[in-house]
Amino acid sequence: MSNSFRKSCIVLHESCTTALEDERITSKIDLAFLDPPFNQDKAYNAWDDNLPPAKYWEWMHEICAKVYTLTSDGGAIYFMQREKNAEFVLQCLRDTGWTFQNLIIWKKKTSAVPGLKRFGKHYQVIAFATKGKTPCVFHRLRIDPPLPAGYKHARENGMFVTDVWDDIRELTSGYFAGDEALRDAAGNRLHKQQAPIQLLLRIILSSTDPGDVVLDPFAGSGTTLVVAEQLGRHAIGIELDSHNVTLIQNRLAEQRKSDDVSRFFKDYACTPDLETIWGNHDPDRKFMSSDETDVKQMAFLESN
Ligand SMILES: C[S@@+](CC[C@H](N)C(=O)[O-])C[C@H]1O[C@@H](n2cnc3c(N)ncnc32)[C@H](O)[C@@H]1O
Repeated sequence: MSNSFRKSCIVLHESCTTALEDERITSKIDLAFLDPPFNQDKAYNAWDDNLPPAKYWEWMHEICAKVYTLTSDGGAIYFMQREKNAEFVLQCLRDTGWTFQNLIIWKKKTSAVPGLKRFGKHYQVIAFATKGKTPCVFHRLRIDPPLPAGYKHARENGMFVTDVWDDIRELTSGYFAGDEALRDAAGNRLHKQQAPIQLLLRIILSSTDPGDVVLDPFAGSGTTLVVAEQLGRHAIGIELDSHNVTLIQNRLAEQRKSDDVSRFFKDYACTPDLETIWGNHDPDRKFMSSDETDVKQMAFLESN
């Protein structure tokens, strides 16, 4: 990997459609996480979330193709979508050169969305694909979740993570979102699509080594950057909405305790070489208040 990065996190304030052609992205990407707007007519500040479906998928093709060009051989993409769009996601990745590896089912811990004429929806899909047949990095993580009811014998050494992820809670709007969800003074969530740090932790640990470069073209509240930075990976986030760009900057600078990934280290303790994979694991890392924060590691590039 050629890596010309000096800063560990870079935030680009513009549309990823143009930013992915930007010559400032000089490093090859090792992992991209795509969590685009789902075209559900949600109220975004800067984006029309109600495109005709054909136009939306044309756009997703364009993004996947651009990310492919920027990715190193064997690099990975994880593309998250609503379960009903699984066929479009897979086609989009195939058409743009990616090799399919897994369709991950992220089974929600919250209640299913009820259906009157079909089964209630209880998961989201995350398609995992690579540039070329073989991933350059794939760490087989081991976890040790509670035994299912009726199992009598404890596992000796946990189990490998499979393609069904049912141990990661999404950040819902109410009480269960806990401290991790970013909120304003009145308690309103600042980014309704904020992904849980545990989700990005699993993806980044599985598909990168410390020092690798992670890209998030739809950075939102900056979850990918916050996790990547703690694991000693470089991160590039692209975000169109200026409010979110500020959110990301503040979040990176603030180093909130609720964003601390080190508390999940024990969940992967059965993984061989975990210390090496984790990178910066420092159980005594100090999470600082914003006035003490050293932001030298963060670059922010404004496009216009
Ligand atoms: C589903 S959210 C991502 C949430 C993110 N994973 C997180 O954890 O916060 C999608 C984000 O894409 C941003 N967005 C929409 N169109 C964009 C574009 N053309 N370029 C870059 N960002 C865009 C939206 O403003 C929104 O913040």
